[in-house]
Amino acid sequence: MAWITKNSAATRIERRDQPYLTAAMKDDLSKRFLPRYERTLGALLPALHMVQHEYGWIPHQAMIEIAAHLKISPSDVIDTASFYEEYWLHPKGKHLISICRSIACEFCGHEKITQAVKDKLGIDVGETTDDGLFTLIELECLGSCDTAPVALLDENLHERLTPEGILKAIDQIRAGKQPAHH
Ligand code: FES
Repeated sequence: MAWITKNSAATRIERRDQPYLTAAMKDDLSKRFLPRYERTLGALLPALHMVQHEYGWIPHQAMIEIAAHLKISPSDVIDTASFYEEYWLHPKGKHLISICRSIACEFCGHEKITQAVKDKLGIDVGETTDDGLFTLIELECLGSCDTAPVALLDENLHERLTPEGILKAIDQIRAGKQPAHH
């Protein structure tokens, strides 16, 4: 395994004047979530969810704001946010294409689906199109092995996919339509 070293101490955190953790979010955390937990750390996952739901990702500034509000260490926030791959630590496209790469979908040709998307959008897995419209990722089993290969287009499951099917769905999203589920 190769070790990757990062000069984290010299990382510049981009900041904006307006806080990410809004007064309404703080209020919600204080009233709805904090009373449920013995320690404020318990409300960390809901706080991260709130920010990601609002902005699509979790900026560093937001992590610092969450740490301050919950009176925990910023390192606890980044350790948690970077542990779960469902949390986005960099901006993603407006639409997320998540193709299952686990064994049933692999047997049923997920690679052709991924390749078709890569060719159409001109991006690799983990990348976002220049217009910010689509991000492509691969995920582990989506729990629909009997209808493999499958993918999530945003939050909608598309089953028994073909390369043609997913390309058509992308065109429909681009045209502002909700693609039919297959
Ligand atoms: S392996 Fe793809 S849904 Fe289970």
